[in-house]
Amino acid sequence: MKEAESTNSNGEKEKGNNSRREFLQKVGVGSILLGAGATGFQTVRALVPDVLYEASERFKIGLPTQLSEGVTFIEDRRLYVFKEGRSYYAISGACTHLGCTVKYTKLNQPKEIEEDGIKKRINFEFHCPCHGSKFYADGTNFAGPAPRPLRWYNLEQSPDDGQLIVDLGKEVEQNFRLTV
Ligand code: FES
Repeated sequence: MKEAESTNSNGEKEKGNNSRREFLQKVGVGSILLGAGATGFQTVRALVPDVLYEASERFKIGLPTQLSEGVTFIEDRRLYVFKEGRSYYAISGACTHLGCTVKYTKLNQPKEIEEDGIKKRINFEFHCPCHGSKFYADGTNFAGPAPRPLRWYNLEQSPDDGQLIVDLGKEVEQNFRLTV
């Protein structure tokens, strides 16, 4: 097929300029479609949340009778679970300063403290190894940079198998006790 000819401003014949123009137009349209496709993909991707699938906030820690009297540390959850006779409660081991794991620290001598006008006798505290924060036995911060008490979490007993269930999504007050 014969290529179309045209004359430029200098009066010279131009061969194949039309087909070149068509080619460039096609490339241009292709680029636009490609760009639109990429934008569309990014828009759809933005609607899909970046979810980190972490361990469930509710989990079982065994039967009440399986826990020892006193304190049990559940390392992978950084959680201290206390058993006092038939009463149970759970305190977070995550320091409220920058999140280091606080250490259960037995006191050589029991200590008298007063909180909200109430005198208490404690024989352990929680100490943070990172920047020296200290917490009383009930998690109240009293030294170092920690701005808040340690968190307490809800405990309940499973109606299915009687195991204790901790709920890290549900904070409770320091006077919480589960009695079974
Ligand atoms: S992380 Fe515990 S005192 Fe800083």
